[in-house]
Amino acid sequence: MNTVLNKALCLVEDDPIMGESLAHRLTLEGLVCDWHRDGKSALDALRHRSYAALISDIRLPDLSGEDLFQALYDEQVLLPPTLFITGYGSIDQAVKLLRLGARDYITKPFDLDQLMEKLRIISPTLFIDDEWQDLEPVLGTSVSMRRLQKMANVLGEYRVGVLLTGESGVGKEHVARYIHGITDDTGSLPFISVNCAAVTETLLEAELFGHEKGAFTGAVQSRHGVFERADRGTLLLDEIGEMSTGMQAKLLRVLQEGHFERVGGHNRIEVDVRVICATNRDLKLMVDDSSFREDLFYRINVAHLHVPPLRERPDDIGWFANMFVSNFSKKSGKSWTLTAAGEEFLRTQSWPGNVRELKHAMQRACIFSSQAILGPGELGAPAHDEPPVAEATGTAESLQLKGYLESCEHNHILETLKAHAWQISTTARALGISRKNLWEKMRKYRIRDQETMG
Ligand SMILES: Nc1ncnc2c1ncn2[C@@H]1O[C@H](COP(=O)(O)OP(=O)(O)OP(=O)(O)O)[C@@H](O)[C@H]1O
Ligand SMILES: [Mg+2]
Repeated sequence: MNTVLNKALCLVEDDPIMGESLAHRLTLEGLVCDWHRDGKSALDALRHRSYAALISDIRLPDLSGEDLFQALYDEQVLLPPTLFITGYGSIDQAVKLLRLGARDYITKPFDLDQLMEKLRIISPTLFIDDEWQDLEPVLGTSVSMRRLQKMANVLGEYRVGVLLTGESGVGKEHVARYIHGITDDTGSLPFISVNCAAVTETLLEAELFGHEKGAFTGAVQSRHGVFERADRGTLLLDEIGEMSTGMQAKLLRVLQEGHFERVGGHNRIEVDVRVICATNRDLKLMVDDSSFREDLFYRINVAHLHVPPLRERPDDIGWFANMFVSNFSKKSGKSWTLTAAGEEFLRTQSWPGNVRELKHAMQRACIFSSQAILGPGELGAPAHDEPPVAEATGTAESLQLKGYLESCEHNHILETLKAHAWQISTTARALGISRKNLWEKMRKYRIRDQETMG
């Protein structure tokens, strides 16, 4: 019987980690994935079923991808649109396959999004219509955030590795909490976030896996790590790109085996934790230059959600601004309103600190505004289009504005430093300025002094 499966595709991959990652991702995309670990079983399936696409590794334990393709070709089996996965150095083979009728190929290591993009092109019928239009917006109202929310809704049902990427302050942790909330109706399951950049490797190991009494100097009593505390819930490993390669190996072991020992302990501890990783770095590039393990990359990146910067989704700016004003009004028992002109002004700003910066800007506007209506003036827009006046000759009004803008800058730098555990490099990167520039600004606002004074 020759069954036609519109949403089904055949995956041929012998590597268990890569195969599992691909199979998970394809399932999450709403597809039916028939995964074969060797060429012969795939050949047999392809003879009897019609798939909407074939994804195959070129190097397989029995047949090569090329043999598989050639056999189907010789038997005149109707070939589905085919995408080959090649390693470095097998480009010649990939080109040969393209000549035989394969549609495209992708070179390892690759991003799952990249593969999905290619799959969309070679087999558009595989993809279901988007249903994001009917969604109640929680993460944002822009098309990109509604799509992301829809994907997060699906992910919430599975306990697979999710990688969240995006600039600082875009809402990665917020998305992680949203995914966690999907299966935690009662709000009783733990959600724990750990910043992997904030501590040394030894401390991070103890933080993640806990330690026994006497495991190291200062370990006066045994302590549960976050993996234990997050049991049945979600663990967010923030700034995963900053994790040392030694820790990466330890993390991979736990993710693969599902158990670990506390530092200085021998008892095997098993937990059920959904691990979500977040970073504002390009892990794929880090894999290329060997600073991030490829096997861990595939393990944590079964589903990848990229949260775009706010400037790329201007529709969200007004939506967020109104929400923050309304939340702040409720909290403080007062009532502020954002005008259409105010909203328009906000849309024209670049928001390098993303949602976090917008949130603080709205709170500041509410606090400092002498009126309940927030227009461009209350939001920091220059009163008129004259060039900025030099400090020494400034009018009282322009000096007031300068002071206001400086207070915004000061607060924003302080918040970003806190969010990045006072790491200068990552904070500078998040703010889009050089480390030197950040130091200068910190000196100007005496930020270190405040920190060391607590
Ligand atoms: N959809 C949202 N609804 C309400 N608040 C949000 C939303 N998204 C982000 N925020 C708020 O914006 C701020 C920054 O969000 P979050 O901490 O999730 O960003 P992040 O991407 O994890 O930042 P970082 O890279 O600095 O860790 C937080 O105060 C958060 O509450
Ligand atoms: Mg975060």
